[in-house]
Amino acid sequence: MLHQSLNVNTLVSVLNEVGAYIFTKDLEGKYTYANSLVLELFDITIDELIGKDDYYFFTKDEIEHLLENDKRVFNGEIIETEEVLVIKRTGEKRFYITVKKPLYDENKNIIGMFGISTDITEQKNLENKILAQKHFLDTILDNVDAYIYMKDKNRVFRYVNSKVAALFQRSADEIIGKVDTDVIPKEVADSFWESDLEVLTKLEKISTEEYFEDENNKSYYWSVKIPYTLEDNTPTVLGFSTDITLLKQQEDELKAKDRILYHQAKISTMGEMIENIAHQWRQPLTLISSAATGTKLKNEMKILDNEELIENMENINNQAQYLSNTIEDFRSFFLADNYNIKEVNIKSSIQKTISLIKDAFSDYNIKFLVNVEDDISFNCNENLFIQALINILNNSKDVLKHINDMDHEKCVFLDLTSDENNYYIKITDNGNGIKKENLEKIFDPYFTTKHKSQGTGIGLYMTYQIIIKHIKTEIDVRNVEFEYKGKTYKGACFSIAIPKSSIIEKVGKRD
Ligand SMILES: Nc1ncnc2c1ncn2[C@@H]1O[C@H](COP(=O)(O)OP(=O)(O)OP(=O)(O)O)[C@@H](O)[C@H]1O
Ligand SMILES: [Mg+2]
Repeated sequence: MLHQSLNVNTLVSVLNEVGAYIFTKDLEGKYTYANSLVLELFDITIDELIGKDDYYFFTKDEIEHLLENDKRVFNGEIIETEEVLVIKRTGEKRFYITVKKPLYDENKNIIGMFGISTDITEQKNLENKILAQKHFLDTILDNVDAYIYMKDKNRVFRYVNSKVAALFQRSADEIIGKVDTDVIPKEVADSFWESDLEVLTKLEKISTEEYFEDENNKSYYWSVKIPYTLEDNTPTVLGFSTDITLLKQQEDELKAKDRILYHQAKISTMGEMIENIAHQWRQPLTLISSAATGTKLKNEMKILDNEELIENMENINNQAQYLSNTIEDFRSFFLADNYNIKEVNIKSSIQKTISLIKDAFSDYNIKFLVNVEDDISFNCNENLFIQALINILNNSKDVLKHINDMDHEKCVFLDLTSDENNYYIKITDNGNGIKKENLEKIFDPYFTTKHKSQGTGIGLYMTYQIIIKHIKTEIDVRNVEFEYKGKTYKGACFSIAIPKSSIIEKVGKRD
């Protein structure tokens, strides 16, 4: 007996210690027993509890479901369920996992039920919080203008946002859990995987350009991929891609435009050059032909002496030599490769430039006045540098050739000045300058004020590109007013800055 009562006490204290809510009810739903956790919850003694039903403890709304469950148990079912209850006393909403079983008497008649409930409110709250956070994250990931995915080392998609799903024309659920090659064409998957794998092996973030192609079109992406370890230590790669197709197209168009412009510029420079060659050849050709016809005539009249013959032949030979030299200058200008960067002396480049174009200028009585120090050089591609200068000078010629005022001495000044940081190659003409409203536009491609047959508007654009991109310095333009031989002139002044840091200056000569 003693032994048995000890067992009952032990049992009661065990029931009180299990950390679960344990209770029994009779067939009317009235409590017949509850452990201390239940009593604490209701803040009631066991005597007060016995005989009361759930209406006493819980608010009405939730109770129906609970009684429904109880009824099934009274019919012999065992149920395990989740219950949500609001405790009347405190107004608190709590979540339970409850197991309810029928209680039988010795004749196997159901006389009530017993229940064990575990409070899962904390987990539930945490779960809800996580769910809310996940929902929040999903909303962001699905609405951000980027393709986001996660892939593990077996090339299985662990996550894709809705943009990726739309791109692959499947739902996210159809993609997640699948190997990439089952979702997209193998070659495309392989090319994505290349950089994914790099991230997984190096465990470093990478940024790369990628493309995706289906039957209809090809799109380009800028992707950032980072290594990411899941809670279960699975290494994955997390990718963020943005669509740069439009940018790429614009870039391609620009490149194509640039190529066309460059080509046009080259052709138009060539045209100008041929004009210059023709100019330079006119005089020697006249000399050659008159020497030849003179010799022939004298020979026919039998008055040609040997000495004169030799002199004329030498003369012809000299002129031919000159022709050959000039054509060689032009040839080397056209053939020189555009990447050949070397030390270029400013003064000698200016002189080379002038020698290429001088005849066309002298036709219109345009003089060059060069005031440049001797030994100043910098590294650049001389050919491009000369082309940049020619384009500027040709514009001066174009305005000056229309000036027919006898008092107007037509000039182009080429000066080298400096300040603390830079040298400046200044090209000034006295052609009355550029209209104020055009000053901003003259470096734009296709901006011209000339008739279609006279100009395409790419001369200064090319110059600008050469100075900025190849010589990597700056050019600007202003209108200036200055005095020359006691007369005031207006004109355009182009100024090319060359940083002193890139100047190679040779100070004097040593003996
Ligand atoms: N020295 C200058 N004096 C007055 N206007 C100038 C001068 N240089 C350039 N301009 C103006 O700038 C415009 C653009 O010059 P740019 O060399 O780019 O094209 P263009 O000479 O018109 O044609 P292209 O050089 O292609 O044959 C010219 O049409 C002209 O109006
Ligand atoms: Mg021009």
